Amino acid sequence: MGEFKDRVAIVTGSGRGIGKLTAQQLALEGAKIVVADVIEENAIKSAADINESGGNAIAIVADVSNEIDVMNMVEVTLSNYKTVDVLINNAGFTRDNLIENMSVQNWDSVLDTCLKGTFLCTKYVSPYMIEKKSGKIVNIASISYLGNMGQANYSSAKAGLVGFTKAMAKELARHSINVNAVAPGLTETEALKRLPKYEMIKERVLKSTPLRRLGKPEDVVNAIMFLASEKSSYVTGDVIHVSGGRFG
Ligand SMILES: NC(=O)c1ccc[n+]([C@@H]2O[C@H](COP(=O)([O-])OP(=O)(O)OC[C@H]3O[C@@H](n4cnc5c(N)ncnc54)[C@H](O)[C@@H]3O)[C@@H](O)[C@H]2O)c1
Repeated sequence: MGEFKDRVAIVTGSGRGIGKLTAQQLALEGAKIVVADVIEENAIKSAADINESGGNAIAIVADVSNEIDVMNMVEVTLSNYKTVDVLINNAGFTRDNLIENMSVQNWDSVLDTCLKGTFLCTKYVSPYMIEKKSGKIVNIASISYLGNMGQANYSSAKAGLVGFTKAMAKELARHSINVNAVAPGLTETEALKRLPKYEMIKERVLKSTPLRRLGKPEDVVNAIMFLASEKSSYVTGDVIHVSGGRFG
């Protein structure tokens, strides 16, 4: 059953959105899934959906910016599934504002989840990948890493994530661990569609998107699946932009 048969995959922020669809797709391809999310209800529902459709998933409540939570996430993963093969660092969010109005709290929270969270998950998962001399780490960045007005915090975090990806790729290559990133453009998740300003945002982004449509979660998941699979075994330290040709 599927390319990921018997692999164990941790997907952070997989209670909803791109992470949830990634977890479902990996499960469909045979992987055992750890749904890790800071929102308990969504984590439980997401894992239950996978199990109900014949997959194998457990839910773990974890704030990726919290070291103790991440250590616990890895411990529970190992006690349930014995190993870990794939780590998708997907948890992230925006708190936009112009610099003069950006609170320190909004700066810290975005950097803590998007960047420090990825550092912590990689730090505590990679020893088990090093031990077995194989592993796939996929970090979900954003084309905002190129710089976006009102997103000093998010652009910095995602640019940091690209640097982190490249550093980790070099550091972990000798253990046959691939580390890559996916940088989506604006992607039509359910949460995005519910935003009051959704239509306005969509119209603005479409004007600067050469392929003339917004991304779908499936578009992003396709790139993640490639980087998590053996098909990308000679690719490391790279960034796949899934943005319809829109850069910045
Ligand atoms: N949707 C887009 O347009 C878009 C574009 C570019 C990049 N991205 C990136 O893709 C990733 C997924 O985004 P999405 O659109 O699916 O968002 P989403 O808000 O639908 O899902 C994000 C999930 O992460 C969880 N999460 C947030 N903080 C967390 C934390 N500290 N610890 C654990 N879980 C946490 C949330 O509870 C949520 O379930 C993010 O990293 C985001 O920055 C999204």
